[in-house]
Amino acid sequence: MKTLTIGTLETSRIAYGCMPLAGWDAGAPAAPTRAKAVRAVRAAIDAGIDCFDHADIYCRGRSEAIFAEVLSDLGVGRERLRLQSKVGIRFADVPAGAPGRYDFSYQHIVSSCEATLQRLRTDYLDVYLLHRPDALVEPDEVARAFDELAGSGKVRQFGVSNHQPAQIELLRRSLRQPLVVNQVELSVVHSHLIDAGIVTNQSSVSYGADGTFDYCRLHGIRIQAWGPMASGRALGSISADAPPRDQELARVVRAIAATKGVQPEAIPIAWLLRHPAGIQPIIGSTDPARIAAATAADGIALSREEWYALHIAGRGSRLP
Ligand SMILES: NC(=O)c1ccc[n+]([C@@H]2O[C@H](COP(=O)([O-])OP(=O)(O)OC[C@H]3O[C@@H](n4cnc5c(N)ncnc54)[C@H](OP(=O)(O)O)[C@@H]3O)[C@@H](O)[C@H]2O)c1
Repeated sequence: MKTLTIGTLETSRIAYGCMPLAGWDAGAPAAPTRAKAVRAVRAAIDAGIDCFDHADIYCRGRSEAIFAEVLSDLGVGRERLRLQSKVGIRFADVPAGAPGRYDFSYQHIVSSCEATLQRLRTDYLDVYLLHRPDALVEPDEVARAFDELAGSGKVRQFGVSNHQPAQIELLRRSLRQPLVVNQVELSVVHSHLIDAGIVTNQSSVSYGADGTFDYCRLHGIRIQAWGPMASGRALGSISADAPPRDQELARVVRAIAATKGVQPEAIPIAWLLRHPAGIQPIIGSTDPARIAAATAADGIALSREEWYALHIAGRGSRLP
């Protein structure tokens, strides 16, 4: 698979998201869940993916733990992989009575990172991300946590997720390490951040032009796309009772897939890869056939006309 750089790191240009790997049922994953996780991670590695995305909250920490077990089962060495995880979202009732909340405190960032390293059975993370903005963020406190994690060798690079430019600027003023990633929701049917840059000053458009995309490009911050398949919605739908937009998207996706000789799953991923920002899609399917189909996007390139045809079908209204 072709590669891209994240700060100083070279990695596969498609990443794999480990969110559902352990299943959301409480307790240790049952044997079928574990077998499914093995098949999914093996399919991702077979496709050439070396970058794996985690968070402390995924399956309440169990996705990180099962991932380490799967690597051991597969005999894949840590040194072959790029591992990233996230911190900052806290569940309700931990501790008892607490609300669901965000937490960028020094204590939480450092202790959560240590727990993640233990679960992943590794000494270091390649990239560590702040998961979602914390209204009570104290940038100097985040800087103290990052200094400790970088100084002890536990984290090599840092980034953010779901952050706006001003929030990144606020952090950058205090941090001594660069922020190298902003992981955002992005797909052909959730293309607001791209749309915001091309519909400037059009009164019919209600979402704001916050410049997140161009800000990240200007500052060398790699954009990672979570939800690149929008749980399958990025393929549209051929069902007769589907909304016209979904039917039209399915038609365009299938026509381009047929031209390129790939399965439809490759097309929403190819749409992200075609963008000159060098977006890294994080695919989340646990189905080996879907993983293989989606990663075939690495072998095709969309023309400008194909890219815009998909964009128009996905947003459901014409340009300009
Ligand atoms: N930073 C954040 O706030 C944030 C938020 C959410 C996710 N993430 C990260 O991004 C990763 C990917 O997110 P995502 O799971 O939303 O990604 P996705 O690739 O858009 O969606 C994958 C999901 O869609 C389902 N799906 C249904 N039809 C599909 C089809 N034809 N092709 C492919 N998938 C289909 C998959 O089910 P099957 O497994 O049955 O194929 C799976 O549940 C996560 O694992 C996580 O690492 C980050």
